[in-house]
Amino acid sequence: MDLNSFFQQSYSRRPGLHVRAPGRVNLLGEHVDYNDGMVLPAALDRAVYLAAAPTDDQIVRLQALDLGETAAFRVDQVQDKVDLEGRPLPTWAQYPAGVAWVLLESGLEVNGAQVAYTSQVPIGAGLSSSAAVEVGFAALWRAMGGWSVDNLNLARLCQRAENQYVGVACGLMDQFASACGVDGHALYFDTRSLEWQPLPLPGGTVIVIADSGVRRSLTSSAYNERRRACEQAVEILRGYLPDICALRDVSPPEFAAYSVYLPTDVSRRAEHIVKEIARVESAVRALERQDAQIFGALMYAGHASLRDLYEVSTPELDTLVEITRQLPGCYGARLTGAGFGGCTVNLVDEGHAEGFIQALSEAYQQRTGKQAQVYLCRASAGVEVMPA
Ligand code: GLA
Repeated sequence: MDLNSFFQQSYSRRPGLHVRAPGRVNLLGEHVDYNDGMVLPAALDRAVYLAAAPTDDQIVRLQALDLGETAAFRVDQVQDKVDLEGRPLPTWAQYPAGVAWVLLESGLEVNGAQVAYTSQVPIGAGLSSSAAVEVGFAALWRAMGGWSVDNLNLARLCQRAENQYVGVACGLMDQFASACGVDGHALYFDTRSLEWQPLPLPGGTVIVIADSGVRRSLTSSAYNERRRACEQAVEILRGYLPDICALRDVSPPEFAAYSVYLPTDVSRRAEHIVKEIARVESAVRALERQDAQIFGALMYAGHASLRDLYEVSTPELDTLVEITRQLPGCYGARLTGAGFGGCTVNLVDEGHAEGFIQALSEAYQQRTGKQAQVYLCRASAGVEVMPA
């Protein structure tokens, strides 16, 4: 059913507003956003869509089309994380509720609303469907409330909602990409200074996503463990490099000199971060030269590092990446997002894209017995609000 009909069926009226909030794919710079590093995501042409109408009863009603579930909460009770009957809000409803909470905390108006929404971003696949939900709701309340906060700061509010209300310790990359995406461009984003710049992808290349079909859970302790290892590395290295605040501040030669003082596991995690940040810098220079070969080689190196040093890959993701080495027209491939399942991202010559998609799906099925969803995607614009 289309979203408008679903809205009408749910609320017996027509929606007043539509919101489109894209998912994201990360081309390079994985797990560096919580180490103050630089990342290179792009907003996707797959998005979360909201249809909404304001109400004056201070109640937010949610209809999640894909989940077939409904929930509602009172704006003035949002801090209690309960629905209208006082029952705990289900996790999926905590994302919009968390956004309402953080907006109120920041003194911004949150309107009562009837909302129906649907996600074209596959859920739990590492393409940031939850960040898209957050950014979509934040943009909706901004449009209804008439207050003005720019998209970058909207993303920061959404990250705070996820950290403090939902309880997931994510960085800022996903919300940033969903809010600030630029059509046809990757986004070079410095997560410390918050400066960013759109960069065109090498001419004649396209992005292909391959979904391994293995689902991940970001709330799993593995993500938090990785964060803790990075913090531990900073604490120890500060004994030798007193001016560092984050792994961002450690250069590869400094790391080589002092990594012997780190426990083995912590050293491997930190090595990934230090070198991944350097890879992003090299990748940006490659993009400026429109050099798809070098960019792709950095993607392959990034994957090997996520597999061997950061240990967030899975056999399925490794298989998807390995297969591409034999496929004509593929410049680079790597897992994208947090890992532990989800998708790979591939940089492919435009003329070879169709053959690549078919060959990758077939070889993956042959090797694993599993079905991968492999599809072309375009870097798209960030969140948009339109009259319905
Ligand atoms: C998840 C988090 C991001 C980032 C990536 C890994 O997507 O939400 O903040 O840490 O993992 O790069």
